[in-house]
Amino acid sequence: MIRRIVRARTSICISALVCALAWLFAGRELVAQAVLAVPAGLPDWTFNIPDKIQPTAVKVEGVVKAPGSAKEYEAARIAGNATPPDWFPDEHPAAPPSVKGGPGITLACGSCHLMSGQGHSESADLAGMPAEYLIRQMAYYEAGTRKDDARMGPLAKTTSDKDVREAAEYFAALKPSVFVKVIETATPPKTFIATAGRHRQLHPDGGTEPIGRRILQIPADPFRTEIRDPHSGFIAYVPPGSIARGKALVTAPASGKTVRCGICHGETLQGLGEVPRLAGLQPLYIARQLFDMRYGSSAGKAAELMKPVVGKLTDDDIIAMSAYLGSLPPR
Ligand code: HEC
Ligand code: HEC
Repeated sequence: MIRRIVRARTSICISALVCALAWLFAGRELVAQAVLAVPAGLPDWTFNIPDKIQPTAVKVEGVVKAPGSAKEYEAARIAGNATPPDWFPDEHPAAPPSVKGGPGITLACGSCHLMSGQGHSESADLAGMPAEYLIRQMAYYEAGTRKDDARMGPLAKTTSDKDVREAAEYFAALKPSVFVKVIETATPPKTFIATAGRHRQLHPDGGTEPIGRRILQIPADPFRTEIRDPHSGFIAYVPPGSIARGKALVTAPASGKTVRCGICHGETLQGLGEVPRLAGLQPLYIARQLFDMRYGSSAGKAAELMKPVVGKLTDDDIIAMSAYLGSLPPR
């Protein structure tokens, strides 16, 4: 507890409001979804911190349906994290209680990572990842070497080894498909970060804004993302030239600056042994992990292998590599 409070104090609060709230909540950290703060020096755009002003909100009310699914759900029933909707039960094996929800489970994996495992940009794509890799990440979250104080940290501490293994084996058995479209543009549409689901969304006023040195990722269809439809993916806007630049960095022979990613992640970047797939992960997620690893807020014994890799990467390198890796189809 004390360690966590100290950590909260040392992180830079992104605004006075968040700062004030962080102090308020510092003593009551048992709340599952703590206030989010961005560690010092890391770009806030990778963390999807909701904007103070919310110009609009997606309304999910009454009985809801997803295109192509025979199912329907009461909006209130699928709104929380305990009982996620299972729109396409024929597309995956039987799910364990930790994933689909059940007695005593308040944070079912399927609610944030979807029953397809592919997740949203603020969570993670777990589909087809090696079970041992997923179990190891849970151990890092539990030990606090990989930090996600708002969600995975507290959850890893309260999930039994049996539930973790069952969930990991379930997600490892799933086959990922293309879930993000990467688009290069200097002027993406104007967006804001919504409180619900922490998704970036189109601003109702329309218009565009300069992309700067950022990756801006939005749901292709905010309503379908909100109801956790695993067939409705994301669009990632990236600066012009990112994909080719990223390809050159990722595939370059080892030099003083870069280490060839394929040596460990597989030549096709689809993963190798217990080393995770990079192809087709959501660019915003990849960038966040690379920043976290460079900063030191995601570490662990196996992740030590990434230390020399990320040490020399600039922010622009990270953006370009994430754009390229996200543009590759997963398999
Ligand atoms: C309330 C939302 C939420 C729930 C419920 C949830 N997760 Fe997560 N999960 C996240 C977020 C957010 C991240 C990304 C954190 C980060 O950036 O490190 C994540 C990341 C992960 C990762 C890291 C993935 C990788 O590729 O390294 C694993 C493994 C994981 N979750 C497993 C689980 C399991 C197993 C469950 C169910 C027991 C679960 N999660 C439930 C939000 C959630
Ligand atoms: C020397 C081996 C090695 C090299 C080279 C390497 N990686 Fe990794 N990488 C790993 C290992 C091992 C992990 C998983 C660590 C763990 O199990 O915790 C990892 C994890 C990652 C993750 C986190 C994935 C997730 O789902 O959260 C990303 C992103 C990543 N690497 C990107 C890269 C990129 C980009 C390159 C090339 C610039 C690269 N790696 C080169 C070994 C390597």
